[in-house]
Amino acid sequence: MIVDSSTQLVFPDLFYRLSGFAAGHDAFLKLEGFNVTGSIKLKAAIGMIEDLEERGIAVPFETTIVESSSGNLGVALSLVCASKGYRFICVTDLNANRANMRGMEVYGAEVIVVDKPDPETGYLGKRLQVIDKILKVEPNSIWLNQYANIANKMTHINKTAAEIAREFDKVDWVFVGAGTTGTLSGVAEGLREKFPQIKVIAVEPEGSVTFGGKPGPRAIPGIGTSVKPKLAKSVKPDEVVTISEMDTVKACLAFAKDYHLLVGGSTGSVLAAMKQKAGAFAAGDTVVAISPDLGEKYLDTIYDPSWVDANIRRSAKTTLRA
Ligand SMILES: Cc1ncc(COP(=O)(O)O)c(C=O)c1O
Repeated sequence: MIVDSSTQLVFPDLFYRLSGFAAGHDAFLKLEGFNVTGSIKLKAAIGMIEDLEERGIAVPFETTIVESSSGNLGVALSLVCASKGYRFICVTDLNANRANMRGMEVYGAEVIVVDKPDPETGYLGKRLQVIDKILKVEPNSIWLNQYANIANKMTHINKTAAEIAREFDKVDWVFVGAGTTGTLSGVAEGLREKFPQIKVIAVEPEGSVTFGGKPGPRAIPGIGTSVKPKLAKSVKPDEVVTISEMDTVKACLAFAKDYHLLVGGSTGSVLAAMKQKAGAFAAGDTVVAISPDLGEKYLDTIYDPSWVDANIRRSAKTTLRA
């Protein structure tokens, strides 16, 4: 494989067979963490910028791209904007991990870190207020708005869902973590067309409001929201499974031990949801789950017992060492 640009470092057909994960079933994890910048969000970043270009809205070396991101989209956009010649301003918050923030800066983005949540709408609400101010003062600036951007969803119809459909003759269950719900809505729409019997399971953390949950504190970035995303309004998952952050941590540790791969928090949540639903799988079902990123950048958080002790509420004392 020879590439001419780092943005071609995308691996569309990487599936980890989870032998023994659920008895009698083939379970697969679609690995997106090997893409350049380390996550599925590279695809959304390319998709949303190309959409603006195709509609003549964004012009290299003239347009400033503005976005709110808890990390992965921010790094992906930083790379895509640098390679295409756009100035990029990313608004993030203290939940984003340091490696992601440094990655954005090294790729040339301007990073604004919100250090206090809005009392009613949380960090996300506060980030959106900051974006409003930037758009008023920066000429030729455009907010991508990944939470409402149809190109975000279309990317996952045209790419993520198509990649899964190419690999499998049938898919009975698909498990997808919900952040902006771009992945969830695109994968649901794309796969339902090909496999009408498929059950789409949305996975979200406790404390997220996307599917009507009560707002609460969350420390793991990636999935969950404090303001319901516009894209979520048209998503109709067959079921929503809510996972506590402590169960997410346990699933990440168990996966590193049993499958020898460090995965990110949203992957841990999806794995915990699959375990929870395993009793409902019929014999011979094919189960696919999306793993948006890998775990190395969470070694100081999800994989650090002292961080977990300090940041994640637990109902019972649990030993967290793998
Ligand atoms: C690690 C991780 N998992 C899951 C998601 C959720 O993806 P989406 O925004 O498409 O719902 C994100 C989004 O940033 C993410 O960074």
